Amino acid sequence: VQLTGTLALAVFTSTLGSLQYGYSLGVINAPQKVDYFTLTKLPNCLCNKTETPNKLRQADRTHSIVNEEDPGHHPSVIMYWSLSVSIFSIGGMVSSFLVGFVGDLKGRVKGMLMVNVLAVAAGLLMGLCKMWKPHIMVISGRAVMGFYCGLTSGLVPMYIGEIAPKAYRGALGALHQLAVVIGILISQVIGLDFVLGNDEMWPLLLGLSGAPAILQSLLLPLCPESPRYLYILLGKEQEARHSLCRLKGPHDPTIDLEEMRREKEEASKEARVSIFSLICSSVYRKQLVVALMMHLSQQFSGINAIFYYSTAIFSRAGVSHPVYATIGVGVINTIFTLVSVALVDRAGRRTLTLVGLGGMCCCAVAMTVGLKLQNEYSWMSYVSMSAIFLFVSFFEIGPGPIPWFIVAELFSQGPRPAAIALAGCCNWTSNFIIGMTFQYIQAWLDSYVFILFAVLLLGFVLFIYFRVPETKGKTFEEIAAIFHKGRRIPTDNGELQELKSSTDA
Ligand code: GLC
Repeated sequence: VQLTGTLALAVFTSTLGSLQYGYSLGVINAPQKVDYFTLTKLPNCLCNKTETPNKLRQADRTHSIVNEEDPGHHPSVIMYWSLSVSIFSIGGMVSSFLVGFVGDLKGRVKGMLMVNVLAVAAGLLMGLCKMWKPHIMVISGRAVMGFYCGLTSGLVPMYIGEIAPKAYRGALGALHQLAVVIGILISQVIGLDFVLGNDEMWPLLLGLSGAPAILQSLLLPLCPESPRYLYILLGKEQEARHSLCRLKGPHDPTIDLEEMRREKEEASKEARVSIFSLICSSVYRKQLVVALMMHLSQQFSGINAIFYYSTAIFSRAGVSHPVYATIGVGVINTIFTLVSVALVDRAGRRTLTLVGLGGMCCCAVAMTVGLKLQNEYSWMSYVSMSAIFLFVSFFEIGPGPIPWFIVAELFSQGPRPAAIALAGCCNWTSNFIIGMTFQYIQAWLDSYVFILFAVLLLGFVLFIYFRVPETKGKTFEEIAAIFHKGRRIPTDNGELQELKSSTDA
């Protein structure tokens, strides 16, 4: 199978949405002190998403001595700030439910095009915030942007999963995460105080998060619609054929169409799969549990907590500009996502996830030891530092990119949109939970905080070892058959026949 220019264009264009998601995640990370919400007379710091808990704790400590002259610790400022951080996740939690609806309404390409209105509106709200009440403008901008990102984090993997040839489905699917981490890195770099992370320029820094949507809107009309959507959902065979030829180059699309015809037949046996019926259906239970556990393992691995903790450990280890060390984490993040793109179709999803989560588990133990003994042996801080870099590397090898695209692989056309919606919502919700609770867990467990993640990681490793099959190089039909082994299906003469192997399906 060759990779055509049109396929490359389609993947590039769609991942501009992922870039935007990464940028919006990271832009709040820029640990810069800027005159935030200036016009409200409530100057604030544009501080790390990951640093916010620290600020909050600092604020807690100083709560009794909070004074109006200390603007960074003004309770309203802290409230506005926390709100603009967390409302993003709330937007995503809500909208991820709508992914299936938006994707099926006018197709994947038009769906991505439509939702760009949200990104541009959010960018304008934040970029022009100094024109009215900045705190209200920024908070609404972040909410709209979160809403947009919840949709895009489902639509992009769905579209790529449906157009990618099966030999490259993993690598192309992992490009979503690659774009996310590049977005995070770009925002970290242009968030430096001498670039845009300063008093004058911060509205532009926030507003720029809408920019990729403009480029994407110009390119999307050139991208072919998903042939699976055209044929299986709309029954437009001719258009699906045309789209297939554009994506794969001139070839005889009979085999692909035959595969889709069987999927369509399978889908037509059941009523449309809504989110509710997916939750209730025993037919998809196993796939659904696997999909949700993959997303839970991504978030409850503690990756976003690490992004936070790194800053604290870096400064404790005497790094004078921890912000550069944080950018270092961003670089490592990007490099290892590239490694995953290169490996995922050869080594397989299962292996890389197991290696990744297992490695993270060991790093979490090493970090605990490092933190615990840091005061006794100064070199221990290097142990913690290396453990952080390794933790992030292991994350990006598997647990980072794979959950995003494996859901599209685990489900056939009928339940796919509903499954992506549910998994997305699970991801956003657990991300939100970690963001909100980490500071309390840390206060409770102190240097043992990562033991908690080590235990969770061990649990996920065991689950994946026993329950997650390899999906590499298999058709959607073959993957479905793995889960339906032993399930009874009605035959043409009305009797129940047991599915034994993938070839029976
Ligand atoms: C994944 C996660 C996201 C995390 C990022 C870090 O995309 O979903 O929560 O911040 O990876 O690279």
